[in-house]
Amino acid sequence: MKRMTIVVVMLSTIIMSQDIKYVGSTGCKMCHNKEAKGAQYTKWEASRHAHAFETLKSENASQIVKDKGLETEAWNAPECLQCHTTGYGNGGYEIREESFWFPAAEDKAGAKVVKRMKGLQSVGCESCHGAGSVYKSSSIMKSVYANEIDGQTVGLKQISKETCIVCHNEKSPTFKPFNFEESIKVITHPMPAS
Ligand code: HEC
Ligand code: HEC
Ligand code: HEC
Ligand code: HEC
Repeated sequence: MKRMTIVVVMLSTIIMSQDIKYVGSTGCKMCHNKEAKGAQYTKWEASRHAHAFETLKSENASQIVKDKGLETEAWNAPECLQCHTTGYGNGGYEIREESFWFPAAEDKAGAKVVKRMKGLQSVGCESCHGAGSVYKSSSIMKSVYANEIDGQTVGLKQISKETCIVCHNEKSPTFKPFNFEESIKVITHPMPAS
């Protein structure tokens, strides 16, 4: 028990000294896409959430933007991105100049930033689970799973109805009444009981 307290205190110190960052859904894929463990990535990819950014390129979206009198395309409008991307306005997805998306061939760092930003398009893992740069390490994930440390101290959030209604509310131009119990069944991706 004493040892656990020390670990928690140490972790809290580490986290306070380094901002927790969004890594993008591709940063979860390598460990959460095995069939035997529930293939969360594949399940998510087949869900509407994984395509929320593409939705902003639809005719329907253009019409909504026009009706609202917005000057920008939907996929560049903060009014839409706040719910159709991951962590917008909160250290996650950001609007960038056209040139950002096409770094020079030798610009490896640039390519990396682009990859991260693309991983933050749409409603990714971290929209619900929280920014993952700290908890995504294998040893921390295992400790959280074994209840040795509280996920919340490393950025892994407790998910409830509140998590969803940040986006599923009347501010959505296409709002459909949101039923938490029913909706959770649609997006569920459990690990098979061992
Ligand atoms: C960051 C914003 C955001 C959060 C958080 C969020 N959603 Fe969504 N959700 C969306 C968007 C945007 C869509 C529509 C995507 C599309 O169709 O392109 C959507 C679609 C859905 C759909 C599909 C609706 C349909 O008509 O098929 C379900 C089900 C759903 N969400 C459930 C949930 C649940 C349950 C939670 C919480 C555990 C949640 N969502 C959290 C933004 C969010
Ligand atoms: C407050 C969060 C929120 C904002 C802001 C938001 N959306 Fe959405 N959007 C959602 C959710 C949640 C859904 C899933 C269905 C629903 O409840 O509306 C969705 C679904 C959609 C769909 C698919 C609708 C369908 O069923 O075919 C389109 C198109 C869309 N949004 C366009 C936009 C555009 C364009 C903007 C910006 C003007 C925008 N959204 C802003 C949350 C939001
Ligand atoms: C719309 C919200 C939402 C999104 C997006 C989402 N999850 Fe989840 N996830 C949940 C909920 C709700 C649970 C149920 C457990 C809980 O309440 O914390 C869960 C549970 C899990 C679990 C634990 C399963 C278990 O049985 O213990 C893993 C692992 C997981 N998610 C990984 C992911 C990964 C990886 C992604 C992205 C590819 C992702 N999730 C995207 C809402 C979400
Ligand atoms: C280096 C591998 C690795 C990466 C990367 C990783 N995880 Fe995990 N995660 C694990 C392991 C291991 C577990 C423990 C369960 C198991 O054995 O699969 C776990 C457990 C979880 C759980 C369940 C925790 C609990 O006790 O309720 C969630 C939720 C989760 N991961 C989400 C994510 C999300 C979201 C990302 C991306 C930001 C991510 N993970 C990245 C390895 C990883």
